[in-house]
Amino acid sequence: MADKITLSVIKADVGSISGHYMPHPDQLAAATKVLSEAKQKGLLIDFYVTHVGDDIQLIMTHTKGPDHPDIHGLAWDAFQAATKVAKELKLYAAGQDLLSDAFSGNVRGLGPGVAELEMEERKAEPVITFHADKTEPGAFNLPMYRIFADPFNTAGLVIDPRMHAGFVFEVFDVYEGKSVLLKTPEESYDLLALIGTPGRYIVRRVYRKEDNLLAAVVSVERLNLVAGQYVGKDDPVAIVRAQSGLPAVGEILEAFAFPHLVAGWMRGSHHGPLVPVSMRYARVTRFDGPPRVLALGWNISKGRLIGPADLFDDVAFDETRRLALQIAEYMRRHGPFMPHRLGPEEMEYTTLPEVLERLKNRFVKTEEVKVVKRHSEMLSGEHD
Ligand code: F6R
Ligand code: MG
Ligand code: MG
Repeated sequence: MADKITLSVIKADVGSISGHYMPHPDQLAAATKVLSEAKQKGLLIDFYVTHVGDDIQLIMTHTKGPDHPDIHGLAWDAFQAATKVAKELKLYAAGQDLLSDAFSGNVRGLGPGVAELEMEERKAEPVITFHADKTEPGAFNLPMYRIFADPFNTAGLVIDPRMHAGFVFEVFDVYEGKSVLLKTPEESYDLLALIGTPGRYIVRRVYRKEDNLLAAVVSVERLNLVAGQYVGKDDPVAIVRAQSGLPAVGEILEAFAFPHLVAGWMRGSHHGPLVPVSMRYARVTRFDGPPRVLALGWNISKGRLIGPADLFDDVAFDETRRLALQIAEYMRRHGPFMPHRLGPEEMEYTTLPEVLERLKNRFVKTEEVKVVKRHSEMLSGEHD
């Protein structure tokens, strides 16, 4: 039997032109050079380097399997090379996502995001890679549910006998560092009870129930991490296999036709619509956003990456984008108020607690407030 192929998508923000806008072309070239040397040496079968917003995306195929130190080390080297360029050009936030100076065999927990899917190539192997910026891995919860569990989105759940039994979702609790497997359709309500809280419960993998074929993987890195300790949000990537007993490419894309609200955007602290964009618009401007997602279509042929097809580069998504921009305007008008700004639980991982800390000692019991108020009225001469 032929070797299994692993598709590894590893991403990191290691510096950007302007603010957190997009990487410099020289950074992409530096990462490309590192990967192309690895391809020449035979470590990679194929690769593609791109970006969404300020994140460099390494899309790689090989036969080493997931979590392999050679592949993770290679990605680390590529990000180091891009960081070097960022430092030379004095780009913004050079090396931001490389949280450690030392690489120790695996990039998980060190900053980069990782989605890896090992597969036995089918007769034809259509795959979509999703790359999002200014949001968190839970942003894929709603579309993953729609793709694999909602017959109003995916006609194949009703029509195709190979999908009819449904799918199994692995949901990861980022606070506890634990996973649970839930079957659809029979446990759909339990699944929704969890993944409706996308800041905590993340769809990490989806399997076809009939034969346990791994159909989708979402990056949960950084979150995963550091021994179950939640350390904040990360711009996510996802891999979804398509067709022939799995959701069709069009069913997968359909899940993004509704620009749902996700957490992220400015300072990782605001809700905004997830805008499906083409490569041309894979950069962020307004209020450092709005959050966006790129969909690249591939066929994998003995590990070769045939593509990409820039799948959201189509007028069929224009109305989604128009609605998203209206929602962006509506949300922005809330300024610093919830629900535009995230709730206190999630703000804990931002710089807001420092501000609140300064006010801590100025809080007084209600009785004392009256006294203070009387004082200030007396001072301003407003008392009667
Ligand atoms: C969000 C993001 C940006 C920054 C913002 C402030 O993921 O990357 O919105 O949070 O531009 O950046 P600093 O604190 O570096 O000035
Ligand atoms: Mg960034
Ligand atoms: Mg980013």
